[in-house]
Amino acid sequence: MAKRDFTNTGIHTRLAHAGNDPRDYHGFVNPPVVHASTVLFPNAATMASRAQKYTYGTRGTPTTDALAAAMDALEGSAGTIIVPSGLAAVTVPLLAFVAAGDHVLIVDSVYAPTRHFADTMLKRLGVEVEYYDPHVGAGIAALMKPNTKVVFTESPASNTFEVQDIPAISKAAHAGGAVVMMDNTWATPLYFKPLDYGVDISIHAATKYPAGHSDVLLGTVSANAACWERLHEAFLTLGACAAPDDVYQVLRGLRTMGVRLERHEQSTLEIARWLETQPGVARVLHPGLESHPDHQLWKRDFSGSSGIFSVVLQGGGQKEAHAFLDALEIFGLGYSWGGYESLAVHVYLGDRVIAKGPYEGPLIRLQIGLENVEDIKADIARGLKAASEA
Ligand SMILES: Cc1ncc(COP(=O)(O)O)c(C=O)c1O
Repeated sequence: MAKRDFTNTGIHTRLAHAGNDPRDYHGFVNPPVVHASTVLFPNAATMASRAQKYTYGTRGTPTTDALAAAMDALEGSAGTIIVPSGLAAVTVPLLAFVAAGDHVLIVDSVYAPTRHFADTMLKRLGVEVEYYDPHVGAGIAALMKPNTKVVFTESPASNTFEVQDIPAISKAAHAGGAVVMMDNTWATPLYFKPLDYGVDISIHAATKYPAGHSDVLLGTVSANAACWERLHEAFLTLGACAAPDDVYQVLRGLRTMGVRLERHEQSTLEIARWLETQPGVARVLHPGLESHPDHQLWKRDFSGSSGIFSVVLQGGGQKEAHAFLDALEIFGLGYSWGGYESLAVHVYLGDRVIAKGPYEGPLIRLQIGLENVEDIKADIARGLKAASEA
């Protein structure tokens, strides 16, 4: 059998095969789950020089290498670190690239815990944090300062789904000498490849679609060649390694992520379109819909859409939002997404400084699961009826 090379294959072939080579482990198609702290050295000289592939559990194992290699094949990156949560996949690269006296630009529509980290720990460490409009595009150039070290992007936006002009932002950020990071969790590498659009570091809450079953927390951070060494060094310094069983579960999840995502995409688009015609709905915030203000930008850069979006109710407030949520029978009320099951949450925008509306009524974020579309629609209809009667 010739050496396996997946560089030029389609994304589904990579999802199925990238990572480990079965011939490394007696032909077993999946890699071993290596539980490790100690790694033995054959003699004192090797121990002193650490001249062997694996040296200690925090620094990598065949299991973490398999997932990291798979992510590199999917993202086109030079290296990937694997950390215990999606939030750690945000905080570790930020800690790797900023120091006291630096300035960071973060999109205002960012995942709320990313903002919390920046507003608390980064500020305490002496980093100046500034938020920018998700629609800033090339205008980010005007916000760059001589000490701007990181431009942090997330597209589409958490909860409100604005699309960022990533190539324009990357170009301006690089002209100012900053590193560009992107939280790419929504699209997964299946529907957007940040490094091809100028991003230096691509972040995933692998908790979502890669894991896919709402039972694992994990994060991945993939860097281009210019940023890999510094990212890797910070990862080793922080000791932010992930547990082997979780790493294995995510590699396992990747193998079926393509088919799961296609189902999420189809069901979500059908439901989002249907929702646009329903009474009590002011707007549907899904960039894959022709009605979305950023649809053309999304179409230019993304090759597909995943399973979360928001619906804006026509008028009302918390009472109506709670009535909607409490009427749901199939949807669970819960924070995460990317699993097999439908979930709903009332969106909070009170921490935003720029991208906060106005919206006609409360925003409900829906994660569309793998259930039958007709059942999901009937559940949402129950919610809309309850909201209208609240
Ligand atoms: C966009 C985004 N990034 C990161 C995270 C964090 O992932 P985790 O829950 O694994 O910490 C989330 C979680 O909801 C998210 O929505």
